[in-house]
Amino acid sequence: LQQNAIRHYLQFTDLSADEYAHLFARAAEIKRKFKAYEKYHPLADRTLAMIFEKASTRTRVSFEAGMYQLGGSVVHLTTGDSQLGRSEPIEDSARVISRMTDLVMIRTFGQDKIERFAAHSRVPVINGLTNEFHPCQILADIFTYIEHRGSIQGKVVAWVGDGNNMANTWLQAAELLGFTVHLSTPSGYEVDQAIAGLRSSASYKVFKDPQDACRGADLVTTDVWTSMGYEAENEARKKAFANWCVDESMMQAAKPDALFMHCLPAHRGEEVSAEVIDGPQSVVWDEAENRMHVQKALMEFLLLGRVSA
Ligand code: CP
Ligand code: NVA
Repeated sequence: LQQNAIRHYLQFTDLSADEYAHLFARAAEIKRKFKAYEKYHPLADRTLAMIFEKASTRTRVSFEAGMYQLGGSVVHLTTGDSQLGRSEPIEDSARVISRMTDLVMIRTFGQDKIERFAAHSRVPVINGLTNEFHPCQILADIFTYIEHRGSIQGKVVAWVGDGNNMANTWLQAAELLGFTVHLSTPSGYEVDQAIAGLRSSASYKVFKDPQDACRGADLVTTDVWTSMGYEAENEARKKAFANWCVDESMMQAAKPDALFMHCLPAHRGEEVSAEVIDGPQSVVWDEAENRMHVQKALMEFLLLGRVSA
């Protein structure tokens, strides 16, 4: 057992800029193989445990299909159908699950929970979304940006909406990879810089008016007004977020070749208009598909290190 060698992916800052460059190159190669129907089974006989304490479409399908494509297999667990929902300590679950599998992906509530799991795991743990972060999504988003426009370094990403897990992760990515986030959130829903754990505030700017945040942006992105786990606040949020809908006028404030992204699921007429999400600047379907390609590269990296083939 080589405890020291374990690398987890619990937040965006768990990898270096150099490792991201490697992952993006591997994701492109792994995607090429997939499109060419080339067999690539580096994770044969390996098992990924997927633990979902919240709902999912993309995260489940991308990890499950991705692991099979790499030659491995998966075990799918939810709170309701495992002892996790019957108060078995997370530390004990980690000890047991990580003795039988090679890799664990967890979607849960507090970041503390995934950190406690990782601290007691013998195998790498991947964050499939917590209240605080969604690193696999930002990995896919930046890969999608690079595919369409080249390097994201020096670019401006406008974040319109909730100061949530996606916003926190964008901030971490901006500081690490050298771009700027223009943040516009309704008052009371601001990002907490302490959660992102930034070294400084140099990589983001805050705007009251979402239109101002979009001005000159290379990428405009948003997310649901009410994240999973916050459903009780739904009505209050609908009122507070009414002006934070990415529509054509916001896209016009951005650069003419700006892209639109949304991690999905989307609510047309709430955080984004149908014209924008279904329009020519939207790359949301590429973004969703790329979850699978980047996560295959991530799983390869966590289990096999830097692969050059
Ligand atoms: N974007 C994303 O994580 O989607 P799911 O909630 O469907 O997994
Ligand atoms: N911020 C959203 C993202 C869903 C993929 C949530 O946490 O529900």
